[in-house]
Amino acid sequence: MDFKNKTVLITGASSGIGKVTAIEFAKLGANIVLVARSKEKLEKVENELKKFNVKTLICICDVSNKENVIEMSKAVFEKFNSIDILVNNAGFAIYDSVKELSIEDIESQMKTNYFGMIYCVKTFLPIMLNRKSGHIVNVASLAASFGLPGIASYCASKFAMLGFSEGLKHELKDTGVGITVVSPIMVRTEFFDHPSFEKMPKYSPTSLDPKTVAKAILRASNSSRLEITVPSVSRIAVWLKHTFPFFINPIMGKSFKNQLDSSKK
Ligand SMILES: NC(=O)c1ccc[n+]([C@@H]2O[C@H](COP(=O)([O-])OP(=O)(O)OC[C@H]3O[C@@H](n4cnc5c(N)ncnc54)[C@H](OP(=O)(O)O)[C@@H]3O)[C@@H](O)[C@H]2O)c1
Repeated sequence: MDFKNKTVLITGASSGIGKVTAIEFAKLGANIVLVARSKEKLEKVENELKKFNVKTLICICDVSNKENVIEMSKAVFEKFNSIDILVNNAGFAIYDSVKELSIEDIESQMKTNYFGMIYCVKTFLPIMLNRKSGHIVNVASLAASFGLPGIASYCASKFAMLGFSEGLKHELKDTGVGITVVSPIMVRTEFFDHPSFEKMPKYSPTSLDPKTVAKAILRASNSSRLEITVPSVSRIAVWLKHTFPFFINPIMGKSFKNQLDSSKK
């Protein structure tokens, strides 16, 4: 796809996958709307994009707050009239057992990871439908297909994102607007800086570079597929889980439960 002069809005653009995705789109000439809560970090990303000579806009916005998202969209429409690609990437996890997590911990993950995406879709989808073009990319996780001990509420938010995207994809048939979910395995980003991950091994040997995920997001923004897993071979794990759940679930559950138990020692 030719991204030159397309407008791409990325939530969670101040670090990790979102930041690298902004750089990859800008390299190809797309104008970028950078959305997150940290002004200072967004300004640094915007500075990095200067060398690509594209138009940029910073929006300080907490996507879990509907009013914030509406205000953000006003600034976007003032500068760009419309957007071509919406990347719902803002998200985080709190690592602990359901017994130890507070209701507020569980609500906050759902509010950002799931409802943050819903608020952005509800705000920007109407203009895409009017123009009969556009693509939504929702960044989920392989945790959208596996319910895992220690991140049960995070998994729930990503299962919800995948289910919503599948339903919406059917509704969007023949409208000119598409939606694709990108589901990576572990990625080396600031995601694991959350204090709840303190006792966890930082990364597994198979963890991905954020650029690999950014490239998949670019592919997704022009894809007719519902879900792109990263790496693509991880789809085999999803297939095995759905086909032989009685075999795979105990193995996955045991390995994550052991990790959760050892983080308590
Ligand atoms: N890292 C992994 O292993 C991994 C694996 C699979 C999927 N993912 C998913 O990938 C996405 C990006 O994560 P990452 O790994 O790049 O982590 P990251 O480096 O921690 O980036 C998360 C981004 O989300 C933003 N954010 C968080 N809460 C927000 C809110 N309420 N409103 C607006 N922005 C918010 C953060 O910016 P501010 O703090 O400035 O707001 C930051 O820019 C997440 O949805 C995550 O679930 C990550």
